Amino acid sequence: MTTLTLSSRSAGDAAVDALVVAIVSGDKGAALAPGHGLARRTVTHLGSVIGDLELAGKVGEVTALASVPDVKARVVVLAGVGALGTGTPDATALEDVRKGIGAAVRGLAKKKKAAVIVPGTSAELVAAVAEGVSLGAYAVSKAGTTSTDAVESVSIIGPGDAASRKAVKRAAALGEAVAYTRDLVNLPPNLLYPETFVDSVAAKIKGSKVKLKSYDMKALRAGGFGGTVGVGQGSANEPRIAVLTYSPARPKATLAFVGKGITFDSGGLCIKPAAGMLTMKCDMAGAAAVAGAVLAIAELGLPIAVTGYLGLAENMPSSTAQRPSDVVTMRGGKTVEVLNTDAEGRMVLGDCIALASETKPDAIVDVATLTGAQVIALANTAAVMGNDDAFRTRVLDAAEAVGEAMWPMPLPKELRPVLESINADLAHKGGSEGGMLTAGIFLSEFVGEGIPWSHLDIAGPAFNDKGPTGYWPKGGTGFGVRTLVGLAESYL
Ligand code: BES
Ligand code: MN
Ligand code: ZN
Repeated sequence: MTTLTLSSRSAGDAAVDALVVAIVSGDKGAALAPGHGLARRTVTHLGSVIGDLELAGKVGEVTALASVPDVKARVVVLAGVGALGTGTPDATALEDVRKGIGAAVRGLAKKKKAAVIVPGTSAELVAAVAEGVSLGAYAVSKAGTTSTDAVESVSIIGPGDAASRKAVKRAAALGEAVAYTRDLVNLPPNLLYPETFVDSVAAKIKGSKVKLKSYDMKALRAGGFGGTVGVGQGSANEPRIAVLTYSPARPKATLAFVGKGITFDSGGLCIKPAAGMLTMKCDMAGAAAVAGAVLAIAELGLPIAVTGYLGLAENMPSSTAQRPSDVVTMRGGKTVEVLNTDAEGRMVLGDCIALASETKPDAIVDVATLTGAQVIALANTAAVMGNDDAFRTRVLDAAEAVGEAMWPMPLPKELRPVLESINADLAHKGGSEGGMLTAGIFLSEFVGEGIPWSHLDIAGPAFNDKGPTGYWPKGGTGFGVRTLVGLAESYL
């Protein structure tokens, strides 16, 4: 992990391999962002470089320069952070800073020491820079190893007040949690399956205040988790439900997070075409985000009780696999007719939401790479559905504040009839119309009476199979972790 420190010494004096300097976009091209504190000769030089190279200061524009006068750093990296503007930056401007700094830091792999100048004096800007650093510094670990490719330490040059110090600590905790989530998503499915997922979490929580309980196949059968058993029964790698608990004294709220953890989704007997299967190791990204969020909340010591429920299974075709038209009994007793074995996520989630509801939390949030329909509709913007508009807004507000793109979606009552079955209490899918919404309506059936619940469909943003961008690497993005942490913080 990259270490983050906060320093208020002069940027020119930082003896580092690389110094990141923000530049802002404007009508007459780019300019150095405010608050840099660089020497006059340095400013003049950088000003002519910006002009000669016709830099625009756009987010993602990264320009490395050597031999810059009056700076000790061997390399100066100009990082475009967008317009920024004067006055208090809004959520969009702060996200541009995260992305712009993240893109610059992503390019520093293999450099040992770096420094980044905060483009202003507010603790919000310190936070945005520190988060851009901690999220952008991630380098994927080759399977089974620990990555050593990311920059070793980054000194954030900015104001040293208590709020700024707190912001840097929070960014470091978020960065670690997101890195863990990304690592889990990136692990190949022959190494990461339900049992080894639980082993990984057990190792990760050592020394923290998080407790772990897990249900194996025998316990799942005994506990009536028919959805999870049905999905997992076709694989030699048996399913699990893992329950992670962080319970501080006198909590201000009690939250339940539920994550879809399909360690590989082949589609089962309703098998996917080869191309559709290629990214399906990412189908446990919801569970990975929940694990990361619970760890971060515990690490930050928030006075919020959280329980994470990870619904873990591998969806495979075999002679023991479930069939389309099987009827299974879910946790809590509802029967479900399985119509397409590729709609497996809702089956493990239904069991976990029912289990979470038994403890009557103040709210439930589930996070899942649930439908292809979400990707078609919203691409990398996650969809947020739920049974309570005020709670859905609370989730959306948290997402906007941390810089995760999410958009509200309805659960129309008139779609409920498509889930009727003559053989069971519920059919597990409708037709292709509104596939993202009918999946949400299915999940709503397992939420306990009166509990506010939100469903995040993250099929699009969980996995980046294109080139890296902003603070996103290729592969797992860690999407969802920061919204869950932000949601917990909204109860403080
Ligand atoms: N894991 C997939 C959804 C998915 C698709 C995630 C693309 C990430 C990227 C899910 O289990 C699935 O297969 N859903 C089906 C449901 C259908 C059979 C009702 C889908 O969306 O096609
Ligand atoms: Mn599927
Ligand atoms: Zn799936």
